[in-house]
Amino acid sequence: MLVSLNSLLHKALEKKFAVPAFNVNSMEMVQAVFSAAEKSKSPVIIGITPSALEYSSDLLPSIVFARARFSKIPFALHLDHGRNFSDCKKAVSLGFSSVMIDASINYEKKDFSGKHPARDFSENSAITKKVVEFARSKGISVEGEIGTLGGIEDSASASAHLTSPEEAKQFAEETGIDALAIAIGTSHGAYKFKGNPSLKLEIVKQTRKLLPKMPLVLHGASSVPKETVEQCRKFCLNIGAEAQGVPILQIKKAISFGICKINIDTDARLAFMGAMLQKVHDYNGAIDLREYFGEGRSAIEKIFVQKMKDFGSTGKL
Ligand code: G3H
Ligand code: 13P
Ligand code: ZN
Repeated sequence: MLVSLNSLLHKALEKKFAVPAFNVNSMEMVQAVFSAAEKSKSPVIIGITPSALEYSSDLLPSIVFARARFSKIPFALHLDHGRNFSDCKKAVSLGFSSVMIDASINYEKKDFSGKHPARDFSENSAITKKVVEFARSKGISVEGEIGTLGGIEDSASASAHLTSPEEAKQFAEETGIDALAIAIGTSHGAYKFKGNPSLKLEIVKQTRKLLPKMPLVLHGASSVPKETVEQCRKFCLNIGAEAQGVPILQIKKAISFGICKINIDTDARLAFMGAMLQKVHDYNGAIDLREYFGEGRSAIEKIFVQKMKDFGSTGKL
């Protein structure tokens, strides 16, 4: 059942768990999300980025809706990292129940080092507000972002800029958003920390104090398990042994301080690729892509079930 992001997150906030937001790129990933949620009796958020939409020639939402017809799981279909107003408008026209407008970064520009520069507060606020005004009239929830996630080796994003809780409050009040992504030291991709992984959990605590009713969102939350990294390395995927994610204990602490939506993409990518390549290696050479994609699908379903347990959403229908 397609529901609003608001309804999922307010329940999570009240009951102190986090709803996983899994990014999907293919039919197999959509299937894995639904079967994991059904096994776990968990609500779930399905994230689709503008680039995943483009890759699927806009077919992904239809695959989600087709699978949902056989499911009782409450889910939100969420645009992840909408780059501008028109990405959000398009998502709404395709039936998404919520959108993220990521105006913390200017996706239209690149600086001298090839990174998208961060937008300043007032520009971020104005663009986000415009999306909220549009979405409100259609009953669509909006996630905004204040602060920017860094990426040790991620040329696509801006340099990290941690969220200031005071700015977060001002941003939420000015824009009227329904959920707020904050930057507390995570980043997208597989290289999140150079030394010991540590999140700035104080920022979650302070922001929660200033915005007690605002659902807070954690991006870049994959754990990048060593075994999966090794599996991928064995098959020559381009990932270094130094890859490092967010330890699950820190995620659990972040949830206890008020994070109630957690975005995962990299862990699913790693699990899918590792399992699929292992099958290619072990198998008898069958020329049937279902043998291989099916293996990837089972691997990510397992990951999703585990995330639901870790985030406390299991059994929270
Ligand atoms: O947060 C975004 C994803 O991890 C990467 O998105 O679908 O554009 O590669 P993508
Ligand atoms: P990871 O790269 O840590 O999986 O983060 C994904 C994400 O934040 C998608 O919005
Ligand atoms: Zn993200």
